[in-house]
Amino acid sequence: MEGKSVRFSQVMTTQLVLPNDTNQLGNLLGGTLMHWIDIAAAICAKQHAGRVCVTASVDGLTFHHPIKLGEIVTLQASVNRAFRTSMEIGVLVTARGEASDPVRRANTAYLTFVAIDSQGRPVSVPPVVPETEEEHRRYAEALARRELRLQHRPGRAPAQP
Ligand SMILES: CC(C)(COP(=O)(O)OP(=O)(O)OC[C@H]1O[C@@H](n2cnc3c(N)ncnc32)[C@H](O)[C@@H]1OP(=O)(O)O)[C@@H](O)C(=O)NCCC(=O)NCCS
Repeated sequence: MEGKSVRFSQVMTTQLVLPNDTNQLGNLLGGTLMHWIDIAAAICAKQHAGRVCVTASVDGLTFHHPIKLGEIVTLQASVNRAFRTSMEIGVLVTARGEASDPVRRANTAYLTFVAIDSQGRPVSVPPVVPETEEEHRRYAEALARRELRLQHRPGRAPAQP
């Protein structure tokens, strides 16, 4: 199967934090941010695989700084590496108040998506062809993360990439 670049499936989405997205302190709800992350990553995975993809797992997500009501949140989703039927998608979340304010890195999330057929069975995905230095670094790190994550998959040994 022919490889695809990271650029081919990269997704950039922007959200405005509205009152309905916040808690009593005016901070963005963690669940809302997780929803936005899942959607951005799902679009990226679908574009890379050219098929419907499901979320298999989400690595631990840490909320470093609150994101406030009225802030602009940008999510950039990229496929870090594809394995047989699964892909690691990285989502970088940044936030800023006004257009002239500095951009803050709010979160980084790693999600695993699996491409499926119409019966819900996993199907092969194209390999990722990293181009930039950063893409090569993420590609290498994705393998180490996969090994760790599959160790926690109940009753299963990690599959060979
Ligand atoms: C994800 C799912 C398709 C995997 O099916 P499965 O029968 O366990 O398939 P396999 O054991 O053959 O694994 C398929 C791939 O998924 C990966 N995978 C499965 N569970 C995983 C997990 N918890 N974390 C990371 N990867 C996982 C495997 O490593 C394998 O990857 P590879 O082919 O690249 O090596 C299946 O568990 C499922 O449908 N889960 C529900 C998904 C869902 O509803 N998500 C939320 C809504 S989208």
